[in-house]
Amino acid sequence: MTASTDKLPVVVLISGSGSNLQALIEASTRNEAAFFIRAVISNRPTAKGLQRAAAAGIETRVIDHTDYPDRDSFDAELGDSIEAFGPGLVVLAGFMRILTDGFVARFYGRMLNIHPSLLPDFQGLHTHRRAIEAGVTEHGASVHFVTAELDGGPVIAQVRVPVEAADDESTLAERVLRREHELLPQVVDWFARNRLRLRDSRIWLDGRVLARPAQC
Ligand code: GRF
Repeated sequence: MTASTDKLPVVVLISGSGSNLQALIEASTRNEAAFFIRAVISNRPTAKGLQRAAAAGIETRVIDHTDYPDRDSFDAELGDSIEAFGPGLVVLAGFMRILTDGFVARFYGRMLNIHPSLLPDFQGLHTHRRAIEAGVTEHGASVHFVTAELDGGPVIAQVRVPVEAADDESTLAERVLRREHELLPQVVDWFARNRLRLRDSRIWLDGRVLARPAQC
């Protein structure tokens, strides 16, 4: 893959399937794309997303958290590896590790996460199951800037889907995931075009403070 210098270099962190990574790869290879994927880093050697990256000719790294004695040493190595690629943006796309405050501070304002719920509802794990159990009629996904509070950073944009009576965890997850694949490239594109910034804990989009998450 050739990297044009006027495009924003992005490092993507994954732990699993990497379908959101795939959506980013596809968006980044369009002619008009404002970003390119500089590297993909996984904490799991078997993550399928590593194969997706390799197939697209993107550099990959595995930093296996089980090789490190504690979170601080893992996060230090992870942070150094990311920095070595010189990214303008770091995207957590199904990266299943809790990050230390020091790591988050290092990438403050230039790290996004996609979370499968309408934040602030259902932070943490098993969001689809919990949404069904709670009897909500609407569910979705959110992209937010990463801050020290887990799944608690300022929410930039969301997609919404209906919860249907016949849904189980997997049908609902699939409906949400399809929309995630539209949401994440959209937000990365905004950031890459300098339309989106985090300043003084507030989100700025197109020169205005965002009062509530954009609905995509
Ligand atoms: C997505 O649902 C994402 O929101 C969550 O983890 C899942 C990752 O899926 N953080 P994939 O690896 O991108 O297919």
